[in-house]
Amino acid sequence: MLVDWYDREMLASTAKMPWRGDPDPYRIWISEVMLQQTQIGTVVDYYHRWLEKFPTVTALAEADLDTVLKVWEGLGYYTRARNLQRAAREIVNDHADRFPATFETLKTLPGVGDYTAAAIASIAFGEAVPLVDGNVLRVYSRLTCEPEDIRYAKTKSRVRQALSQSIPPDRPGDFNQALMDLGREICRPRQPICQACPVRELCCAYQQHRTDEFPVKSKAKPTPTYHIVVGVIYQNGKILIQRRPPKGLLGGLWEFPGGKVDDGETPENALIREIREETGLEVKIDRQLTQLKHAYTHFKIHLACFICMYQSGTARPKAATAQRWVKPEALRQFAFPKANQKILPLLMMQEKR
Ligand code: ADE
Repeated sequence: MLVDWYDREMLASTAKMPWRGDPDPYRIWISEVMLQQTQIGTVVDYYHRWLEKFPTVTALAEADLDTVLKVWEGLGYYTRARNLQRAAREIVNDHADRFPATFETLKTLPGVGDYTAAAIASIAFGEAVPLVDGNVLRVYSRLTCEPEDIRYAKTKSRVRQALSQSIPPDRPGDFNQALMDLGREICRPRQPICQACPVRELCCAYQQHRTDEFPVKSKAKPTPTYHIVVGVIYQNGKILIQRRPPKGLLGGLWEFPGGKVDDGETPENALIREIREETGLEVKIDRQLTQLKHAYTHFKIHLACFICMYQSGTARPKAATAQRWVKPEALRQFAFPKANQKILPLLMMQEKR
């Protein structure tokens, strides 16, 4: 029933999702990793650009990290991009350029967890492993009036177990994608379009008029807000940028020097202190360029950006892995975190003045 519906919808969905209908595991892998945390509409352009730059797993393995991060810039969760490249190198070096073809071997690659391994194994290689994402959990939980919280790992693993009994061995990839499509298009979080649902006759929540009670999901913890200051430091017409360490939050990306404002500290004093600690430079604050807010997954930031003039000292990286003085017009070539990217157009505007 579900797969018949998928067949009928396929034409429209292939137009929206260019990776559909192409069984190349490399392409499926890239699309699935991009689709984690990002809407289909946003992913399409990134997907095309990525394949132009890195058409094969070998091309990705041979690329340098800066180019990879630049193509990924704006998608967020940069660990995903770094892991794609690490995994590509493993495929080339340890698997003789051949894509691992089973759920279990796929999971040995960096950054490939249950979700991505199941997606590649079922869609590209026809292995009957279920795929459990937020959409699938919602569909399942309405179909069965699942009473347990879907945030719990034990609920997810029970859902995975149950789906592995129902997945058709001849079309596992289509079944998995049909469930995800159903969750996104029909069995939406609010106001599901039950009249268009191919499985409503089997759906416990629909039959009992209780779709708004499922899924059972506890509230996420509120995220903290940090106050951050950064400085655009000028010396002889050039600006200092530094590269974050390769591991950890926003690893490998470039940024303007700065850091957290401590309790009771003014933003200006915090900036002078952070720049001294991070770069060894003494600067004078000229003026504030902008203030902005940005939400990352686990926290929010309020960022104030100041234009600073170099006074003394020689830049030397501490936590940062590299520092460079660059011309303002060259900043675009570097991959920056979202909050720093928002600063660039303002900087360019004031450069023109
Ligand atoms: N969301 C993430 N991957 C998907 C896929 N392959 N099909 C439909 N929705 C998705």
